[in-house]
Amino acid sequence: MHSLLFVCLGNICRSPLARAHFQHLVTQRGLAKQFTVDSCGTGHWHAGKGADPRTILVAAQHGLTFDHTARQVDADADVHEFDVFIAMDNRNKTDLIDLGVPRSRVRLLRSFDPALAHAPEHTLDVPDPYYGGHDGFEAMYHMIVASCEGLLSDALAGKLPSR
Ligand code: 4NP
Repeated sequence: MHSLLFVCLGNICRSPLARAHFQHLVTQRGLAKQFTVDSCGTGHWHAGKGADPRTILVAAQHGLTFDHTARQVDADADVHEFDVFIAMDNRNKTDLIDLGVPRSRVRLLRSFDPALAHAPEHTLDVPDPYYGGHDGFEAMYHMIVASCEGLLSDALAGKLPSR
C-alpha cells in the first residue's frame, strides 16, 4: 500500500489535477487498491471550495473529470496518514518542511519526469497558473502527465519513501 499526498499552495489548481490524473492512471491499470491519494494546499484561503473552473476545463478537454474539495495541509495528521508528500513547486516543498514534514518524505512532482532526470531542483516547479491564462493551465496539465508516469514507476519499484 502506498499513500501519496499532492500539495500546492491553494489546492484548487495544480495538486487537485495531479491527484486526479494519478488516480486515473492507477485505476486504468488495475492498481487502485495499492494506492491512497489525496491533495491539499499549504494555504487556507480556498478550503472547502471546489477546483478552479480553469483546472476543471483543462482536465475535461483531456477527458478527465473529478470531484474535489480543497483543504489545508495538517502537517501532524498528514505525516501520520501519508508516506510521501508530492510538492508542485519549491516553495510548497520548503513550506512543508517548515511545517514539520520530514525532508526525506517531500519530493517535487517534476523530479519524476524522466526527461528532467538531470535538471537542477530549482528548475523543477510546476508553475502556479492561478494569475495567468489558459496556456498556463494547459502547460500544467502536460507537466503533470509527464511526471505522474515516472512517479507511478518509482512507487511500483519501491523507490518512494515509506513511513
Ligand atoms: P494552486 O494555485 O496552488 O495550484 O491551487 C493557486 C490558487 C490560488 C492562489 C494561489 C495559487 N491564491 O493566491 O489564491
